[in-house]
Amino acid sequence: MITPDADWWRDAVVYQVYPRAFADTTGDGVGDLGGVRSRLPYLAALGVDAVWLSPFYPSALADGGYDVDDYCAVDPALGSLDDVDGILRDAHALGMRVIVDIVPNHSSDRHAWFRAALAAGPGSPERARYVFRQGRGEAGALPPNGWTSLFGGSAWHPVGDGTWYLHLFAPEQPDFDWSNPEVREMFHDVLRFWADRGVDGFRVDVAHGLAKDLSDPLPGSSSLSMGPVGSMDAAPPPRRADGTDPLFDRDEVHEIFAGWRRVLDEYDPPRSAVAEAWVPAHRRALYARPTELGQAFEFPLLESPWCAAAFAEAIRENLTLAASVGSSSTWVLSNHDVIRHTTRYGLPPGADAVAWLMSDGGDPREDRDRGLRRARAATQLILALPGSTYLYQGEELGLPEVPDIPRSALQDPIWVRSSGSRKGRDGSRVPLPWTSTGPRFGFGPERDGSATPLPQPSWFGTLSVEAQTDDPTSTIEFYRSALTERRRRFERAAMCSIVEHGEDVLEVRRSDGVRSLTNFGDVPVPLRLAPGEVVGLSSDPSAPIPGDRAPMLPGETTAWLFDNGAGVTHTYAADPQK
Ligand code: NOJ
Repeated sequence: MITPDADWWRDAVVYQVYPRAFADTTGDGVGDLGGVRSRLPYLAALGVDAVWLSPFYPSALADGGYDVDDYCAVDPALGSLDDVDGILRDAHALGMRVIVDIVPNHSSDRHAWFRAALAAGPGSPERARYVFRQGRGEAGALPPNGWTSLFGGSAWHPVGDGTWYLHLFAPEQPDFDWSNPEVREMFHDVLRFWADRGVDGFRVDVAHGLAKDLSDPLPGSSSLSMGPVGSMDAAPPPRRADGTDPLFDRDEVHEIFAGWRRVLDEYDPPRSAVAEAWVPAHRRALYARPTELGQAFEFPLLESPWCAAAFAEAIRENLTLAASVGSSSTWVLSNHDVIRHTTRYGLPPGADAVAWLMSDGGDPREDRDRGLRRARAATQLILALPGSTYLYQGEELGLPEVPDIPRSALQDPIWVRSSGSRKGRDGSRVPLPWTSTGPRFGFGPERDGSATPLPQPSWFGTLSVEAQTDDPTSTIEFYRSALTERRRRFERAAMCSIVEHGEDVLEVRRSDGVRSLTNFGDVPVPLRLAPGEVVGLSSDPSAPIPGDRAPMLPGETTAWLFDNGAGVTHTYAADPQK
């Protein structure tokens, strides 16, 4: 059972489920809520504290479910509200919290409000809930301005009466007008709807996009250009980083979230929230204020190259910023929008991830062994940091990106909107392999011999849950051990300092007696244990060996050192010999 704890989110390990690719109970090839529910014991045994469910609402899937038809319902293809209630009951009984995704920047074009807006015509109160503008030129034949959508193409779509509506993402995702009180009230009701059912928290999609200034001529976004991690939202940042950009991260957005906080605080315990806000670091902390959402995803670490100095800088900055507003840090290396971190770390430095995807993963060559080795080390490093950690489904299997999905099967709107110049994010959304063999590698029954909409590669079975379970060298057992040790030894209120030893070794020194050492280089470095200190978990199962009094830390490896009860004196130093 979950125990009462208003601050649970401050150091929780949260597992992101992308429901349509997690587990399928019906055999239609699409994951569903029954599948999520059936796998909750797996997640509890993995050792996570909470589950974040990406959208499961009715949707035409123009953007993987982030085009919501109805915020208070379940897509019939995925189940029903009873299934959500069942997930909440079971998760709570297993000691896990549940977070749901809220998508407030836009609805889908099938939402009842948008249909009503189209029917009601220009100037109506129904249209005032969205961002309609008169087109330019004769009969409004041209878009109101030259703004482009993050998915490519114009950010405006004509409706045939001389007016156009704004969509920062796909045309099927019309943007709400958040200056309209009706919109604010509707979302307060949505939060209450889910909180009343027992949902513990919310992940807030495009939190930095809600407030807009359409009178500003500055183009707010250029065509999508995928950032270093192949992510969609990572670029472009707001043109102005002072709260006055016309489309992103405007100061007025904070008043909206102060209103959300008042709603979240109506509950006991107050509901948590985490902002997805791709904004400059100094602006991110504003979303995480206790008077607003409380937490914001830390993306600079996700975007950092494999380099001790880059990691150290991102970590220090985030710890400082989070502390400055009374929040806790929020670490993340993978999600459904970016190339999986096993693959990112396996590509040569500076590789163009978008071009790599377009080559079906052929050029440059991905070094999967190295990528996995680094991914495990990076995961163990972030798990040692104070704050909460967000894991993405499949990373506990060390899954790499699937780069060679047939073009005819691609579903991400980025593929079409970029006229086939960018494949988008489908490679991280392929259905999970649960078994080594058998129909759909255990993802679900095979009803008609067909593949899942995003086909699983033939090698997926070798990385399945079944293939890795009980193998002490496997990635899944590594995650289980790391989460067990974290729960057992780490104190929520622990302070930490980040210490760099030479160019390659990064130490996280925690006040609860645990130290984490990561060697970013290729060359092993000797470790000198302090009195009372023992080698604990390592991301490389073969070294350093627990009990060894003169251990070596291999390259691209993280090790945790524990206080064995005798009291650590903290004189330890990693000694990179280069
Ligand atoms: C961020 C979500 O994570 C992404 O998947 C989606 O495409 C955009 N927001 C638009 O909702």
